[in-house]
Amino acid sequence: MSLLSLTGIKKSFGAVSVLHGVDLNVDAGEVVGLIGDNGAGKSTLMKIVTGIYQADEGSITLNDESVLDLTPGARRARGIEMIYQDLALAKQQDVASNIFLGREPVRNILGVKIVDRGRMKQEAQVMIDRLGAKLPSITRPVGSFSGGQQQSVAIARALTFDPKIVIMDEPTAALAVREVQSVLDLIRQLKSQGISVILISHRLNDVLSVTDRIVVLRQGTAAANLKTSDTSMSEIVSAIVGGGDVAEAAAHEARG
Ligand SMILES: Nc1ncnc2c1ncn2[C@@H]1O[C@H](COP(=O)(O)OP(=O)(O)O)[C@@H](O)[C@H]1O
Ligand SMILES: [Mg+2]
Repeated sequence: MSLLSLTGIKKSFGAVSVLHGVDLNVDAGEVVGLIGDNGAGKSTLMKIVTGIYQADEGSITLNDESVLDLTPGARRARGIEMIYQDLALAKQQDVASNIFLGREPVRNILGVKIVDRGRMKQEAQVMIDRLGAKLPSITRPVGSFSGGQQQSVAIARALTFDPKIVIMDEPTAALAVREVQSVLDLIRQLKSQGISVILISHRLNDVLSVTDRIVVLRQGTAAANLKTSDTSMSEIVSAIVGGGDVAEAAAHEARG
């Protein structure tokens, strides 16, 4: 039984049909790469999973139960977490504040509710340690951190929701090369804790190094579903651009 199962997902924006009946399954603890050219429909499909967009047709189940009628908040409570490309961090606030953004633990002093900073810092540190993330300080504004460090704060925040699956949309796109590895390590860390990951990325080498399976979206359909250990860069690239188009495949590969 799959943890997350999408069947026949269709979506149009006005007259423009973006998804034409996509199937996608993710097992517990599995890391699935979702790849495809710009405009293939990857982000739209994932926003349909989180409930930001409604599918026109199709079903979505988590542990065999439909989530279609649930709000984004209720889906999150069931364990579906998405980290967006902009990370949605409050850059001028510290790590603990970001991890508990909008959900700060409070304590009651003489009838007055005040934010429990001590507990926030302690619990934030637990999440950071659980990820094995390396941060210069949990009391500095996250805006002063590198892109990779900010990514770990966003993932640590996701962990506080006790996710079953974490969807990451281009987490390494804006990172320096040396930081990419640390984000890939965070993904491996999630997997080792039994959490599933869907990774959207254009960096095919990263996708090959960290995933168990790769699903290729092409023009709104799932063009390939490949076991990572059994596939190759050239098979992936030709699935992205369409089987027959050898010249374009070579150009895509050359672009990296
Ligand atoms: N809110 C929207 N309104 C209209 N068109 C959209 C919207 N979101 C995405 N699209 C269109 O859907 C297509 C797929 O976009 P997207 O899911 O972002 O692709 P990808 O993430 O694979 O690059 C694109 O043609 C895009 O312009
Ligand atoms: Mg996208």
